[in-house]
Amino acid sequence: MSSDTTRQQTATADDQITRIILEAREQAYQETDHEPEPGLTAKVEWPVTCTVGPGLEGAIACESKIGYVNGSKGWLIYRGYDIFDLCAYSSYEEVAFLLLHGRLPKAREFDAFKTTLFRRMYIPETQRLLLSFPVQDMNPMAALRLGTNLMRQKQTYRDRQLEEERGRLIATDEDSIPMETRPTGKRRPVFQFISSMLRRGAAPEPDVLVGSDEIASCYNLIAGVASIAATIGRVREGRIPIEPAPDLSFAGNYLYMLTGRRPTPLEERVMDVCLILHADHGMNASTFASMVVASTLSDIYLAIGSGISALSGPLHGGANVEVIKMLDEIGSPGAVSKWYRAAQEEKKKVMGFGHRVYKAYDPRARILGPLAKLLAAESGHASKLYATAVALEKEVVASLGEKKKIFPNVDFYSGIVYECMQIPAELYTTIFAVSRVAGWCARVIEYLANNRIFRPRAIYTGSFNEEYVPVEKR
Ligand code: ACO
Repeated sequence: MSSDTTRQQTATADDQITRIILEAREQAYQETDHEPEPGLTAKVEWPVTCTVGPGLEGAIACESKIGYVNGSKGWLIYRGYDIFDLCAYSSYEEVAFLLLHGRLPKAREFDAFKTTLFRRMYIPETQRLLLSFPVQDMNPMAALRLGTNLMRQKQTYRDRQLEEERGRLIATDEDSIPMETRPTGKRRPVFQFISSMLRRGAAPEPDVLVGSDEIASCYNLIAGVASIAATIGRVREGRIPIEPAPDLSFAGNYLYMLTGRRPTPLEERVMDVCLILHADHGMNASTFASMVVASTLSDIYLAIGSGISALSGPLHGGANVEVIKMLDEIGSPGAVSKWYRAAQEEKKKVMGFGHRVYKAYDPRARILGPLAKLLAAESGHASKLYATAVALEKEVVASLGEKKKIFPNVDFYSGIVYECMQIPAELYTTIFAVSRVAGWCARVIEYLANNRIFRPRAIYTGSFNEEYVPVEKR
């Protein structure tokens, strides 16, 4: 395909998606206009008084300038910017910079940041190490966590020494040091890459961005988790990992490295929007898990690994997989009413509906719904799933929308979007992680600036005065 045609397709996809998002924004504003404006936050005077439920529900753990969720207005805001505007006009790379650094990048910084992320997607040693484990048989989230630990191993004493010996301390990932065995001639080991970036004479990384080892590690993690997630997907299909392509965006490269197929401009932009939408969401379980680990002054790789672990549970990531199963089980739009009546009788929760915070339509679902429609139009199975989803949404919102404030959440349409991109369902949660790393990193870095180890309390309801009985007398 000529570069003119590609440029034309990209511009058309961009216009189409921007229009869809701006329409969704308009609808969101209209529907929630009557909701009272939230009382915006003032300076916090610690200690604060709050009502706390089990699982720390309602507890205030810290202050943050990173993101804001308002359930009744259906607002999701990153660093002051509305999610609809970010999805319409920004990119995942820019959003990741925004979350981490607290402001939008200047042109030079943005170019440098994109170059940095692209270069740090090359993690051949981590990939090689990862592939010495039975990744194809592992739960993808467990494999992702393992991969994150493997990335970290370059922060060990040996690696620091190596860097010092080379006269330059980069306490980060293995990708900044040469490969142990440089590829020679045509023969090269499977899973080892000839990287143009690693070739002698390659331009040095732009240093305009790197403020500290921690920030450099965040860059490694944002880029590296995407490569690891893609590697896991490849290996599960019995294929070898591929290098990122310099002309693709972060989202495009993630899709390319995962599927081995260059994404269409439409797919690339849709994945970009998906990554923006999942990048941060308040003090959710995985963010909190990362922060708790970081607050012990453990390192950021281990902290992000904890976020991945927390996200792996079905109560957090993964509801979109259940949505696809449910839509498949329903079968067709015509079967929705009967299925839903039975679900109501059994008091079943309908997957992809309801949210702990949103009591209005989840803004992420507002964007993903029309994107699912757009992509599904080209695919037989997905278009049936989409039509079934729309019919189900009508029924659920008619019966529970006003009454219980139950609306579609982010997971209701995201699975259909990924299905259209031919991504296997068991990888959906890894996509969530690829995106959320930016939010986890930003929140950890922010918290560490005023670190205090997390230490809530439990109320002891056990017994006292038990008499110790030796084992042979029990
Ligand atoms: N389908 C039908 N009824 C529902 C649903 C649903 N999906 N969600 C909540 N309700 C009803 C409950 O039965 C309850 O009714 P009641 O007052 O008569 O008992 C009422 O709404 C409140 O429900 P809770 O479970 O107390 O709401 P909570 O805020 O604790 O739960 C949750 C939110 C867990 C997301 C819930 O809505 C749910 O289980 N949804 C389905 C799973 C899902 O889609 N999860 C993804 C969430 S998004 C994310 O985590 C990224």
